[in-house]
Amino acid sequence: MGSKGMLSRRAMDTDSPVMVQIQELLKGVKGAVSLAQGVVYWQPPKSALEKVRELVWEPSVSRYGADEGLPELREALTKKLLEENKLCKSSVMVTAGANQAFVNIVLALCDAGDSVVMFAPYYFNSYMSFQMTGVTDILVGPGDPDTLQPDADWLEKTLRESKPTPKLVTIVNPGNPSGTYIPEPLLKKISDICKNAGCWLVVDNTYEYFMYDGLKHSCIEANHIVNIFSFSKAYGMMGWRVGYIAFPSEVEGIAQQLLKIQDNIPICASLISQRLALHAMEAGKQWVTDQVKDLVKNRELLADALSPLGKDAVKGGEGAIYLWAKLPEKFVDDFKVVRWLANKHGVVLVPGSSCGGPGYVRISFGGLVEKDCRFAAERLKRGLEELVNDGMS
Ligand SMILES: Cc1ncc(COP(=O)(O)O)c(C=O)c1O
Repeated sequence: MGSKGMLSRRAMDTDSPVMVQIQELLKGVKGAVSLAQGVVYWQPPKSALEKVRELVWEPSVSRYGADEGLPELREALTKKLLEENKLCKSSVMVTAGANQAFVNIVLALCDAGDSVVMFAPYYFNSYMSFQMTGVTDILVGPGDPDTLQPDADWLEKTLRESKPTPKLVTIVNPGNPSGTYIPEPLLKKISDICKNAGCWLVVDNTYEYFMYDGLKHSCIEANHIVNIFSFSKAYGMMGWRVGYIAFPSEVEGIAQQLLKIQDNIPICASLISQRLALHAMEAGKQWVTDQVKDLVKNRELLADALSPLGKDAVKGGEGAIYLWAKLPEKFVDDFKVVRWLANKHGVVLVPGSSCGGPGYVRISFGGLVEKDCRFAAERLKRGLEELVNDGMS
């Protein structure tokens, strides 16, 4: 069984996960600090952790649960979707994180060979989900050079001219890897373009609560729109693996198809994790925004660390936990720069090519408390000054 001929083309033709490569890089450099992984530094609300501590002894959490999620959690999420997101015609399926939600959606909505649309720079796992499910015709659209917001005119033209029409368009709001915020009028414009073309729109709202400078995140709802959410970052629950899909209740058959996929992948999201999610929601949005507001200082420290790259090099960061920065023209090999920064300066970033943005890097400002972030920022600034002035020696 040594031959690659025995392995699936779908898996082999899928990009390698960049975060696994980053973890290898981190392991190889003693004392390196990471500004790479999209994580937050906080843990779930203490009150919620205390409550689930007792629950491990309850027999029900060791059994299987309902495929679509714990009824109490779905009820709480339906209320949250209505009150916070103004989504009143959506049904909820709880998944093992937003990544699994995305795979469920691709399997339920797309066939192998379909074409789909995303915008650069894109979230690498969404790209890989398309690749590994056989959706290999991935059209990558441009963003506005200044704001990085998806180019709606390009989308309209592409959906009109591509035959057959792409099946699905996906966007992340606010974005990963850029932190770019998509304002409601643009969201509506993209939605109308998709509707007119007879195409699904999938919006990943993983960072809905991660908004800065008074900007407000909003969601939209229609029978061609599916929204995805996550507990991972907001409630510091990355390892607990809980996310959810809000799909249009009126669309016939979608719930049944999603259930088939759910039943064959996790069966149900971990029950103890769902109970934690339910208790975390008791702490609620205010608890999350209290954590998020402290990230503004990290963003400021890292924006300053990136200043050697020049005034216009740094984009995004209106939301989420990311800044997106252009390397000087002569350093097109962003993987090489990332390796050099790790080995020589002990600081790790994500290379932009893994997100469809060669010559750029992604910097995460969520994973470190301010003191550690300041330390990482100092290393980064020193590294970038050397890169710009003397190159990679
Ligand atoms: C845009 C986006 N979607 C989904 C995920 C994955 O979230 P989860 O942990 O809920 O699977 C991430 C994590 O970085 C993300 O940035």
